[in-house]
Amino acid sequence: DKGNYRHYMAKEIHEQPEVIGHTLSRYLDLGAKKAKLPDGAAIDFSKLTRLVISACGTAFYAGLIGKYWFERYARLPVEIDIASEFRYRELPVSEGELALFISQSGETADTLASLRYCRQHGLTIGAVVNVPESTIAREADVVFPTIAGPEIGVASTKAFTCQLAVLASLAILAGRQRGHLSDAQEAELVGALAEAPGRAVQALKLEAQIERLAPSLARAKDLLYLGRSTNYPLALEGALKLKELSYIHAEGYAAGELKHGPIALIEENIPVIVIAPHDSIYEKTVSNMQEVAARGGRILLVTDDKGGEASGLGHKDRIVLPEMPEILSPIVYAIPIQLIAYHTAVFMGTDVDQPRNLAKSVTVE
Ligand code: F6R
Repeated sequence: DKGNYRHYMAKEIHEQPEVIGHTLSRYLDLGAKKAKLPDGAAIDFSKLTRLVISACGTAFYAGLIGKYWFERYARLPVEIDIASEFRYRELPVSEGELALFISQSGETADTLASLRYCRQHGLTIGAVVNVPESTIAREADVVFPTIAGPEIGVASTKAFTCQLAVLASLAILAGRQRGHLSDAQEAELVGALAEAPGRAVQALKLEAQIERLAPSLARAKDLLYLGRSTNYPLALEGALKLKELSYIHAEGYAAGELKHGPIALIEENIPVIVIAPHDSIYEKTVSNMQEVAARGGRILLVTDDKGGEASGLGHKDRIVLPEMPEILSPIVYAIPIQLIAYHTAVFMGTDVDQPRNLAKSVTVE
């Protein structure tokens, strides 16, 4: 049931404040201001030597963001790869490592094969899944559920932000267990994460503005998305969403990688979407953005008030979110990124819930 929405995807984008809240309620103890494990999950991060993550597509990008969090907040080294590569590359693994597989459907063939590789090599298996009765959930030792509810639109939206909510919570928990976060730091991060649903509501208010940008984006043949740190995987996700929904070619890049090749593409007909909240890495991203501007590139900056002012660009083509703690930005900024792809595709008249050549659950290799 699409309710009052035109597409399942629109409904699922708008459900995010609620389902992120449901998911966080399993992983955060707001009274104690601590991260907690969901019911039935037992895992000790303190002695782990490494975390190995594998997944496909959007779930892989969630894992890439998770890598930054586990390394930053828990000093836990992370190895991550897309499952179609992971399953054949013969990664040396050893006991004392946790393998984590991320999947909305819990049925993705490559992700399942990667899980079985790690099982054969004696690793503990964790699964971040949205379908609790799925094969991946059943074969895992520890299940970390996302409480996104059924996701019908082929393009993953609410499952992605719920995966991020789980990974952020687990990284905080791991940080405490590994002695890298003080009680005060944990309380601050938990408090920040708990703001996600409210921030998501604010992000959804940008929809009308984003809808007005769609006609000009739809004229492009190519687009670039740039971001750094945890917003670099979000740039990859933005490009994937736009490609699969609108069939416009797009690429995501780490902003710092621009000058190593892709800057040659810059001209006014290739819009560049820059994801840059005013955080610890903002100055670096903005200097990459100015290189684009100096070459006549058309920029759409996704930022906050401070970031908008410090950008040196005009008010034109700026999507402005409220300021928020750094751990929140990939979760909340995912929403305008989804809306950009959605409205561009709707404007072009493609079938957003069922894009050509795609299946919701990829159970063959
Ligand atoms: C993109 C998308 C896909 C899935 C990928 C993994 O919008 O939905 O890239 O993320 O096929 O699917 P799951 O999470 O079911 O393993």
